[in-house]
Amino acid sequence: MESSIQESIFEQAKRWVYQAGNLIKEQLHQDYKIETKSNANDLVTAVDKHIEQFFAEKIRTYYPDHLLLGEEGFGDHITHLNQTIWIIDPIDGTMNFVHQKRHFAISIGIYDHGVGEIGIIYNVMDDVLYTALRGKGAFKNEAKLSPLPRDVQLESSIIAMNSSLACQNRRVNEKKIQQLIKDSRGTRSYGSAALEFAFVAEGILDGYITMRLSPWDFAGGMVILHEVNGVTRQANGQPVQLLENNTIIACNPSLYQKLLDEYVELK
Ligand code: IPD
Ligand code: CA
Ligand code: CA
Ligand code: CA
Repeated sequence: MESSIQESIFEQAKRWVYQAGNLIKEQLHQDYKIETKSNANDLVTAVDKHIEQFFAEKIRTYYPDHLLLGEEGFGDHITHLNQTIWIIDPIDGTMNFVHQKRHFAISIGIYDHGVGEIGIIYNVMDDVLYTALRGKGAFKNEAKLSPLPRDVQLESSIIAMNSSLACQNRRVNEKKIQQLIKDSRGTRSYGSAALEFAFVAEGILDGYITMRLSPWDFAGGMVILHEVNGVTRQANGQPVQLLENNTIIACNPSLYQKLLDEYVELK
């Protein structure tokens, strides 16, 4: 994508993200409808849907030749990557949104023919915007993020994961995950994949391991992490598939091979 086009789309997307953040804040304390999806803990609210519709209308008006892939179904049915695609999670961390009224984010990844051009993750309640343009670095608000250090050791690392990874589970060898918990300095679980990616990019987490993320969970984060030399791969070592669910290791480059070889074993 040409640099000037990339930048103008980015400026537009950023304006909409701030507007969407204000819409979320306005509705945060209202009596919005809450429903469940795949199970009783998989929540979706009227606000998630409203925000995705907000982006869908904007994109269709201003960029009629772009496509939208969104969690709540207001986007397009996408089967190939040969276009410009906005991959949007209107609220990442819906459980946090409902229960804590904080620690959730708007996440956007804009991909052109499969190449991640723009990443935006907005921590709405903290008013922190993580952004990246391909080839131009990653930012936390106005501050440029440093490339991740190359000499990080596991014993001084903090790794984010969903605690269910360490329980008996049919997808991953939980004994090795339990060993990872012992061998690392500490573990965290923030409840928003997008924020966990942003924190790895910022260097306040050293890795994030998680089962079966959807494209909208990682699309923005992957662009941001890439700009600071972070690694995002499937947990079997393969490249991430942008239109599929992926079990993911996102981390500092110095930890990737060790995590893959010694700690993450898929069943
Ligand atoms: C979820 C969050 C959560 C992760 C789940 C995602 P949602 O997204 O990112 O941290 O563990 O896999 O589905 O549903 O709140 O947008
Ligand atoms: Ca959801
Ligand atoms: Ca999500
Ligand atoms: Ca969501």
